[in-house]
Amino acid sequence: MTQAFSSLRINSDRLLDAFNQLALIGATADSGVDRPSLSEAHLAARKWLHEHIEASGFEFRTDGAGNHSAVLPCDEPSAPTLILGSHLDSVPNGGRFDGALGVMAALEVLKTLRENRINLKVQIEAMDFTDEEGTLVGLLGSAALAGHLSKENLEKPRGGRERLVEGMMRAGLTEAGMLSAARKPETLAGYLELHIEQGKRLEKSGTDIGIVTAIVGIWSYKLTFLGKADHAGSTAMEDRRDASLGASAFTLAAREMVMRDFPNCVVNVGKMEFAPGAFNIVPAQVDVSLEFRSPDAAEFERLNQALLNLAGEQAVRFGLGLQTEFFGKHAPSLMDTDVRGAFANACDELGLSHMPLPSGAGHDGQSLADLCPVGMIFVPSVDGASHSPREFTKWEDCVNGANVLLQAALRLGM
Ligand code: GLV
Ligand code: MN
Ligand code: MN
Repeated sequence: MTQAFSSLRINSDRLLDAFNQLALIGATADSGVDRPSLSEAHLAARKWLHEHIEASGFEFRTDGAGNHSAVLPCDEPSAPTLILGSHLDSVPNGGRFDGALGVMAALEVLKTLRENRINLKVQIEAMDFTDEEGTLVGLLGSAALAGHLSKENLEKPRGGRERLVEGMMRAGLTEAGMLSAARKPETLAGYLELHIEQGKRLEKSGTDIGIVTAIVGIWSYKLTFLGKADHAGSTAMEDRRDASLGASAFTLAAREMVMRDFPNCVVNVGKMEFAPGAFNIVPAQVDVSLEFRSPDAAEFERLNQALLNLAGEQAVRFGLGLQTEFFGKHAPSLMDTDVRGAFANACDELGLSHMPLPSGAGHDGQSLADLCPVGMIFVPSVDGASHSPREFTKWEDCVNGANVLLQAALRLGM
């Protein structure tokens, strides 16, 4: 790497200005953002990005899945593309760094390369992937780009079919478009992403950058416990078939089982919906939104069976019926060793400490990992907070991450 390249740095003020403008869209009173996928606020953020890309003089590109990107072409039109990116959608009442930092840093890398007239051997594309967070499908845009999206994923999205269809209509997207957004692997040189850690490991160890080793897989289900609606005052306790008991007992037992038997995994019940849902009616039905994660494909099968058995046992225990609806899986994936090496090298060049870390959060890179070399870096999250308005990363750390992204792109693209 020549001196001219290794001394290149992103423009921190310009990145901060763009990041702050974006954070105003869907902003909440407590400094977070509420931009669930394809909501009005998310569409406003996408429109802002589109305009920002064009105002910055880049070619704007979109595809059938609604992924938005800025392209910095190289001299060789047939050269493959190195994608840098993340996502602009948020969880409900989320933070302003998750996804947004990665998209804006990717665009800032393109601006820096262009103003320094760096001509790499690859096209570089700064990408905002559609629906990363899973309020609709999850990793939707990246799965479509990777060619992994199936009709079934769209028919049974975990956020509900109605919400998906409404969102797609608002965004002007179609199923046929979604299913035809795949790119050929030979057109891809790789995928790099900067993200906040969303945990405390970097902060606790005083490390500047986490170099991701692997991204966990995620499986999700709706479990429906079925009982019988009855009068909450006049029905004896022993006569009730109360669906809430199965749902609650399952949630507690799942936690105990995972902590005891699956120490590498996590389980979450993120939502319960009661029907009919009133103070004075014994719940006839409880829908449980269940998600579990593992870094290991084989372990998933065992955990899946164990959780389903547990749900069955709790249903029997309280005289309930049980229905299960599977919402699909995102596979765990290993990050590319050459990309990890490029990140480590870039950190060393910049004088930044680094450590290898697995990712417990899902990311778009896992959709692309079987197509092209994929790598991610993390910057420290204050107090590990994420998926919350408390999410915060010091600006100096964001800038460090963007510079590592730039230097790694130079190393991989030269
Ligand atoms: C996405 O952030 C996820 O891991 O749920
Ligand atoms: Mn994210
Ligand atoms: Mn997230």
